[in-house]
Amino acid sequence: MSIKVLLDESEIPRQWYNLAADLPTPMQPPIGPDGSPITPDKLAPVFPMNLIEQEVCQDRWVDIPEEILEILYRWRPSPLRRAVFLERALGTPARIYYKDESVSPAGSHKPNTAVAQAWYNKQFGIEHLTTETGAGQWGSALSFACALVGLSCKVFMVRISFDQKPYRRLMMETWGGTCIASPSRETQAGRSILEQDPDTPGSLGIAISEAIEAAVSDPNGKTRYSLGSVLNHVMLHQTIIGLETKKQLEKIGEKKVDVVIGCAGGGSNYAGLAFPFMADKIAGADIEIIPTEPSSCPTLTRGPFAYDYGDTVGMTPLLPMHTLGHTFVPPPIHAGGLRYHGIAPLVSQSVIEGLATPRAMHQLECYQAAVLFARTEGVIPAPETSHAIACAIQEAEKAKQEGKERTILFNFSGHGLMDLVGYEKYFEGKLDDYPLPEELMNKSLEALKDLPKPKAAKSGRW
Ligand SMILES: Cc1ncc(COP(=O)(O)O)c(C=O)c1O
Repeated sequence: MSIKVLLDESEIPRQWYNLAADLPTPMQPPIGPDGSPITPDKLAPVFPMNLIEQEVCQDRWVDIPEEILEILYRWRPSPLRRAVFLERALGTPARIYYKDESVSPAGSHKPNTAVAQAWYNKQFGIEHLTTETGAGQWGSALSFACALVGLSCKVFMVRISFDQKPYRRLMMETWGGTCIASPSRETQAGRSILEQDPDTPGSLGIAISEAIEAAVSDPNGKTRYSLGSVLNHVMLHQTIIGLETKKQLEKIGEKKVDVVIGCAGGGSNYAGLAFPFMADKIAGADIEIIPTEPSSCPTLTRGPFAYDYGDTVGMTPLLPMHTLGHTFVPPPIHAGGLRYHGIAPLVSQSVIEGLATPRAMHQLECYQAAVLFARTEGVIPAPETSHAIACAIQEAEKAKQEGKERTILFNFSGHGLMDLVGYEKYFEGKLDDYPLPEELMNKSLEALKDLPKPKAAKSGRW
C-alpha cells in the first residue's frame, strides 16, 4: 500500500488559483472609516504595488514566476501522506490523508507566501520588510525568505509566544532577521498599549499595529509591511498546497474526497488546501469543507460578520470578515497562530455562502489528538495543526459509527518541535479548556458599534 505520494519538480503547479473569480456572490470591498472603498494608492505606503495588484486581482489563475518556483523547489512539491497508522489506531473505515507542510525549512506552510512576498517586494525595489508573528512560525518563515531573496526583516513577536518559544527567535536571528517582543517601546502603538497594561500577553492585532507603524515611518520609503495571512494575495499563494494535493490524490487513485479540513487562524493554510476543492464544490461536487478554530478564539463560529480593523490600533482598512472585535485579547492558549480576532475576508465570504462549515475545538481534545498522532504517525504536530487533526479524528470516528468508508483530507500545517513547552504543560495537567465567556466576547464586540456594516450577501445555493 502506498502511504506517501510524491510529485516531481516538473509536476509542480505553475499557477495559483484565485477563489475570488468563482465566488457566486462577490466580496464586499475593504473600506475606510468613512465608508469609502480603499483605492490601491492608499495601500501603497504599506505594500508594494505588484502585491496590491494581486490583492485586487479577479483572474481565476495567476502565473507563478519561475524565480519563485526555483526557491520553492527546496521543499516543494510537499508530500501527501496517508495516515494509515492513525487509521489503524482508530479502527476507522475512513481513509485519512494529510498534506505535509511541515517539511519546509521553517517547519510550516508559511514560507509558501513568505517567499512570494519577499520576491515581489524585491522586484519593486524594497530593501526592508516588517511583520508580526504569533507562534513565531510566520516570523521565521519571512526571515528565511528574506535571507534567500536579499532583504532585511524585522519581526514583532506577540509577547506570550516570545516568552514561550525562545528558539523561534533564534531561528529568525539565524536567518538574519531581528525579533522584538510586542508590545514594544519601539513604536507609538506599542508604547501606548504598555502604558495601559504593562503585563499584557500581547496579541496579533497589537503586533500588526506595530509592524505597520514601523514600515510606514521609514523616511526613505524603502520599507514595506508583510502579512502572513488574512489578505487575498496570501490565500492565493497558499493554493499551491491544494493544487498539488489534487494531483497527488489522482496519482494514488482517490476519485473523491468527502471532507477537507484545515485549522484557521487568519485562514491561509486552510484556504490553501481547501480553495481548489471549493472550486469543485462550486461546480457541483459534494464535499464537506471544515475550517477549525479554538473554542477560546471562536472567530468563525461565534463572531459576527462585520467591518473591522485587522489590527488593534485601527491602522488597517476595514475588512469585511467574521471578527471578535479588534481589541480582543484572546486567552493565552498554546496555539499562538490561532489567536487572531479576525479571519480572511475570502474565508468569511465562503462561510456566509455555506461553502464551508466552521467548527470550534477545545484545547485538551486537540492536545490529545496531537499526542495520538505523534505516537502513531510519528511527526509531532504544531498546536495549531492539532485543531485540524482533532477534527479529522472526529470525522473518522463518525465514519466508524456509521460504518462508512470516507476519504478525509487535512492540512498538516506545521510541526511542533519548537512548541514543546505546550506539550510539557499538557503532560503535567496544567492546561485547561478556555471556551470564550459570552461577557468577554460582548465586551470586545463593542469596538464594532460605530463602524459601517457589510451586507452578508449569498446566493442561497448551499
Ligand atoms: C503551524 C501553523 N498552522 C496554522 C497557523 C494559522 O495561520 P493560518 O490560519 O494563516 O494558516 C499558524 C500561524 O502561525 C501556524 O504556525
